[in-house]
Amino acid sequence: MSKRLFIKSYGCQMNVYDAGRMADVLAPIGFTSVDSPDVADLVILNTCHIREKAAEKLFSDLGRLRPFKAARAAEGERLLIAVAGCVAQAEGDAIIKRAPDVDIVVGPQAYHRLPELIARAMRSVGAVLDTDFPIDSKFDALPDSSRAPGVTAFLTIQEGCDKFCSFCVVPYTRGAEFSRPVEAVIAEAGKLVAAGARELTLLGQNVNAFHGQDAAGGTVGLGELARRLADALPDLARIRYTTSHPRDMDDDLIEAHRNLPQLMPFLHLPVQSGSDRILAAMNRQHTVADYLRLVERLRRARPDLALSSDFIVGHPGESDADFRATLDLIRTVEFAGAFSFKYSPRPGTPAAMLEDAAPEALKEERLAELLALLRDQQDAFNQSVLGRTLPVLFEKPGRHPGQITGRTPYLQPVHVLADPSWIGQTVPVTMQRRGTNSLEGSLADSLPHPNARIEPMMSSVSPQVTA
Ligand code: 5AD
Ligand code: SF4
Repeated sequence: MSKRLFIKSYGCQMNVYDAGRMADVLAPIGFTSVDSPDVADLVILNTCHIREKAAEKLFSDLGRLRPFKAARAAEGERLLIAVAGCVAQAEGDAIIKRAPDVDIVVGPQAYHRLPELIARAMRSVGAVLDTDFPIDSKFDALPDSSRAPGVTAFLTIQEGCDKFCSFCVVPYTRGAEFSRPVEAVIAEAGKLVAAGARELTLLGQNVNAFHGQDAAGGTVGLGELARRLADALPDLARIRYTTSHPRDMDDDLIEAHRNLPQLMPFLHLPVQSGSDRILAAMNRQHTVADYLRLVERLRRARPDLALSSDFIVGHPGESDADFRATLDLIRTVEFAGAFSFKYSPRPGTPAAMLEDAAPEALKEERLAELLALLRDQQDAFNQSVLGRTLPVLFEKPGRHPGQITGRTPYLQPVHVLADPSWIGQTVPVTMQRRGTNSLEGSLADSLPHPNARIEPMMSSVSPQVTA
């Protein structure tokens, strides 16, 4: 009998990918996805632990599910509730103690065992917990996806992190760094492309530390992996990857940015702070000068490269001068986008043992100043593409009739009045107007037949685009 599955994902793109893979694991045992928890037989809350209030968010969502569970029980049926993801990994026991409605707690490395956990939960009265880091990789145990990907798809190639930044829970919740074998990545990519994907975003907590084994017994880095994907899959128009650590941006990957047109010229390269003192306190293993040198090398290799970053304000010990240094770094680099966060102490991390010097109001103040500067830079970047012709990969019908929507190499959404047969194709588009969160453009003049494949082209954005 068909059973209904509802998954809510919090946090990063890896969780979005994991949610899809959980649906794949559950499809063979009869689960089909629904988009509301009130009609589900199994609800999975796929949690994120990276910043504060993760647990509170989880418990308030669990509270919201209680009436659904009670209603099903009144009908003599059972709504199973599973908590997955990084909060499950970090606080599994506490969740079971505090939330009696939870039937299953499953960590990010164990979700391939969901069918077994469900069977056990159906038999048991209390909750079942699996937060092991099993020797057998979940990737080997996962079935092929039966879901059709969109024009763009995620593919996890690496998990875990060995960097141990002072503030971060990832090394504890996702465990040690692990890279999938090269052929397994190419096989999964091949299936996604055969099913219609034209852009793949390769995912990993520390994705550019990727070092997968290939069939010949060699070790392959991310630059070479991108090359092999491009060679093996002629219909793969675009390759992206996230998230990278500056320390792992090796020569070969920079070379791939120079030579591989499929590798998009938009790189998320978190720096976190612009103060050497704070970078050292964060255990980031790089200085401001290292980062700036790296940016210069990247831009030399790919002059139209745009960058985004993550920033944390109010890390323990951050003085006003340290914060000003972060603003200086932002002015020097000129980012096309960024994610900025107030530091929040995470239990079990080294920074959480330090005195949390910056009071909340000061963190708020610094965050607002940082956001204003980054917003100006993002606006300037978006403005700089107006009038230019950029390749746009069309993904789906637009919101308004006759429109289709795609993205520039820089992930900017673009709406164009054009035939839906362009969806899945990379087409030159002239950018004409800026909306709040998107661009409007028109198909550029010389267009080949819609069925002809257009090589991804180098854009004409100048090195000063981020000015
Ligand atoms: N407090 C604030 N921000 C954090 N991040 C990670 N841990 C914390 C924390 N304890 C941010 C970092 C990271 C992004 C994913 O989340 O900027 O790059
Ligand atoms: Fe966390 Fe990224 Fe640092 Fe790893 S490199 S510890 S994932 S912030």
